[in-house]
Amino acid sequence: MDHQFDFLVIGSGIAGLTFALKAARDATVAIVTKKDKLETSTNYAQGGIASALGPDDSFQLHIEDTLKAGDGLCHEDVVEKVVRSGPDRIRDLVTFGVAFSKSRTDEAFFDLGREGGHSRNRVVHAEDMTGRAIERVLIEAAEANPNIHIFEDHLALDLIVQHDSLRLGTTPLKQHQQCWGAFIFDSKAREIHTFMAHATLLCTGGAGKVYLYTSNPDVATGDGLAMAYRAGARLANLEFVQFHPTCLYHPQAKNFLISEAVRGEGGRLIDRRGNAFMEKYHPMKDLAFRDVVARAIDTEMKRTGDDCVFLDITHRDPAFLKQRFPNIYSKCLSLGIDITRDPIPVVPAAHYMCGGIATNLAGETSLPNLYAIGECACTGLHGANRLASNSLLEAAVFSHEAARCCTERLEAWRRRRFPAVSAEAFPFDAANGNQNEMVLISHNWDDVRRLMWNYVGIVRRDKRLRLAQKHMAQIWLEIREHMPNIQLNSDLVELQNLALVAELIIHCAIARTESRGLHYNLDYPQKDDIHWRKDTVIQRGPYGD
Ligand code: SIN
Repeated sequence: MDHQFDFLVIGSGIAGLTFALKAARDATVAIVTKKDKLETSTNYAQGGIASALGPDDSFQLHIEDTLKAGDGLCHEDVVEKVVRSGPDRIRDLVTFGVAFSKSRTDEAFFDLGREGGHSRNRVVHAEDMTGRAIERVLIEAAEANPNIHIFEDHLALDLIVQHDSLRLGTTPLKQHQQCWGAFIFDSKAREIHTFMAHATLLCTGGAGKVYLYTSNPDVATGDGLAMAYRAGARLANLEFVQFHPTCLYHPQAKNFLISEAVRGEGGRLIDRRGNAFMEKYHPMKDLAFRDVVARAIDTEMKRTGDDCVFLDITHRDPAFLKQRFPNIYSKCLSLGIDITRDPIPVVPAAHYMCGGIATNLAGETSLPNLYAIGECACTGLHGANRLASNSLLEAAVFSHEAARCCTERLEAWRRRRFPAVSAEAFPFDAANGNQNEMVLISHNWDDVRRLMWNYVGIVRRDKRLRLAQKHMAQIWLEIREHMPNIQLNSDLVELQNLALVAELIIHCAIARTESRGLHYNLDYPQKDDIHWRKDTVIQRGPYGD
């Protein structure tokens, strides 16, 4: 089936939904999402949205904290723009109906939480379920809008990239390539469809599933990064993978985060013997930047041989804890951990991709008519390490800017005709192949994730990175061998995307011969401002190399 819309949004988190709601005033928008519409990273975000709203705060302080966390790689114009837009974009969310928590002393103000690296309390939140509060309100508004069409169980396979008629001899000119939509797999009907659009927005979130341990939901398989790379768009800074210091360590807990806000409310990291250790690592102790805290925990676990460390908040009033962290309290209690009395067992896990598809201030990528917003984008805001709770803010700001840019261009875009592209052009047959060999796919999934965790983790070494590159080449040989024999399915598509993103992360990590922010290589322990105060840019060659 062929669909035509003004805008195609891939992903149904805060970035995609906000763009859709703002752009749909004068345009038709398709939102495709590969599982249930609520199954997004946004929905699991606990912390909140950072913005300088407190009486003791200022844009300047928020800018300085963001730049300090980013360790020399933030784009200052982007930081300035995002920070200064914060209050307006939070107001938009309130207008949509998001109920953020109010101050306990004055209902006229938001309760402002604190997280690592922030010099002031500035995290606007909805208890400890901020993402859920945002997701539900935005989905409801999108469903009520007749110009927005949501397609669940629709997995994007690849972007539709066409050249226009300008040619040099028989070779199309690269600068005239543009994106016209995407091939989408309806995984229930088992059919491939074309979704043609004047602008395509990648809002596909992160790639945490590339690591064995992650705070991310299962959908975070780097699909947008992989599609953009295959289509020839520029990517940047993939070596900067943020590991969240405190994920719940329990055999029955999968991907459950213990928000940094717990440390913001006084939680302290201790070892099995009850000794606090963060003062050894940084003057900001438990509220140091995330890269510092994650590395400190990694060092402590390696030193003691313990499987985890502990986060202790038992000194706070139980009634306060239950009210401030209802989700964390009940999840832990369901596993036999009473956070008002027991220290919480925690470990670091892959959490956020600071690099991504390179964009300008309007979210435009290097491929005309392709935009990227949210975690899949690299806007220049996060640099080498994202400041906590700056990501929902980034998504809110860039979806607004992209909607403005696309709306301005729509009239001119509508004067062009869509090229004729049919689903048969996609080089994979959804009907053929068998489904009896899924073990091959799940085995390769595990291979990639374990390899990345062991060799491309929190602390890196050249030798391990090179070995990882070698093993990835072998894994790719196997994937290519299985592919023609296995029926098209989501796991297979996601595996190809994960494997490609893993390969690109390794490539960027090898390239950066210094330690900065989240990229820590024992063979180059110093920061090298002379050669490396710049982004690591990566782009597929014109012949697919
Ligand atoms: C958290 O609640 O600790 C996560 C917030 C974030 O990653 O920005």
